[in-house]
Amino acid sequence: KKDILILAIESSCDETAAAVVKNGRQVLSNVISSQIDLHKLYGGVVPEIASRKHIEKINQVIEEALENAEVTLDDIDAIGVTYGPGLVGALLVGVAEAKAIAYAKKLPLVGVHHIEGHISANYIENLELEPPFLCLVVSGGHTHLVCVKDYGTYEILGRTRDDAAGEAFDKVARAIGLGYPGGPKIDKLSKEGDPDAIPFPRAHIEDSPYDFSFSGVKSAVLNYINGCKMKGIEYNRADIAASFQKAVTDVLVDNAMHAVKEYGLNKFAIAGGVASNSSLRAAMKQACEKNEIEFYYPSPIFCTDNAAMIGVAAYYEYINGTRHGWDLNAVPNLKL
Ligand code: KG4
Ligand code: ZN
Repeated sequence: KKDILILAIESSCDETAAAVVKNGRQVLSNVISSQIDLHKLYGGVVPEIASRKHIEKINQVIEEALENAEVTLDDIDAIGVTYGPGLVGALLVGVAEAKAIAYAKKLPLVGVHHIEGHISANYIENLELEPPFLCLVVSGGHTHLVCVKDYGTYEILGRTRDDAAGEAFDKVARAIGLGYPGGPKIDKLSKEGDPDAIPFPRAHIEDSPYDFSFSGVKSAVLNYINGCKMKGIEYNRADIAASFQKAVTDVLVDNAMHAVKEYGLNKFAIAGGVASNSSLRAAMKQACEKNEIEFYYPSPIFCTDNAAMIGVAAYYEYINGTRHGWDLNAVPNLKL
């Protein structure tokens, strides 16, 4: 049987990425050009700057991905690309590039949902992992509890009603002066703080046990800081970080464990940028052990945006027969 090689492209936010993936599980190369240093100056991602940087970098990133995999475009069987959700101008760069290559080389084009990509990151290092399983996708833009019924078949059980988990991390980080992106900085500072120092609220939504809300805990942190400032009290940033992180983690763990039990699943995975949070990983691992559930998580490099995960998702779409035409467009609010 011939190997299937996918060249994958990801440009939905502030990472220009390309990868070559063999037979859906083997990453031959994974190149990521991050724009973080550029957006940091503005405290968050500036969409127009992201699009401009993608267009500047994309050819170079793809060339490097092919070189690192020691292949040429002649070895590639299909082009996979993220076509949503994300920033429209950013997505368009990847989609146009993927279409151009597919057209020139007469290759099949496979559009991929960004969240399907994040979920699929779990297949890379866990060769034994197969659906069905439950996956918590926590990133800067998404907080979704997803039942992965089969490759390419998903049921969204719950989602955030307001801020995404990563968004809350970034906003709290900004409030305590940590800079962008805040998630990793809160993670680090929390190690010096007491997670039980400040009782920030844990939001549970009545009648929707799998939905999330993080705007309340974010506001509680901002109110706490303002209260301290008004009273002239010094506040401990590490305690705030650790207590906030614990409040978010508790809710994520509670809802996820509730869902695995309810759906009778024995496998649970996490994905997305926030999935590299050390406190979340530790708490999930412990909860899964307690409930005798197999726990899966990607290495940090496959948690944040990358093209390897898109290549994995594209492979399963490809063998399931998914093909996109030359009318493939960027869909900023694409549904899973
Ligand atoms: O998956 P990702 O790279 O992009 C999106 O699809 O949104 O996720 C980025 C998000 C940012 O909000 C960042 O602060 C957060 O993931 N993040 C973390 C950690 N590393 C990244 N949040 C908490 N703890 C971390 N260690
Ligand atoms: Zn992402």
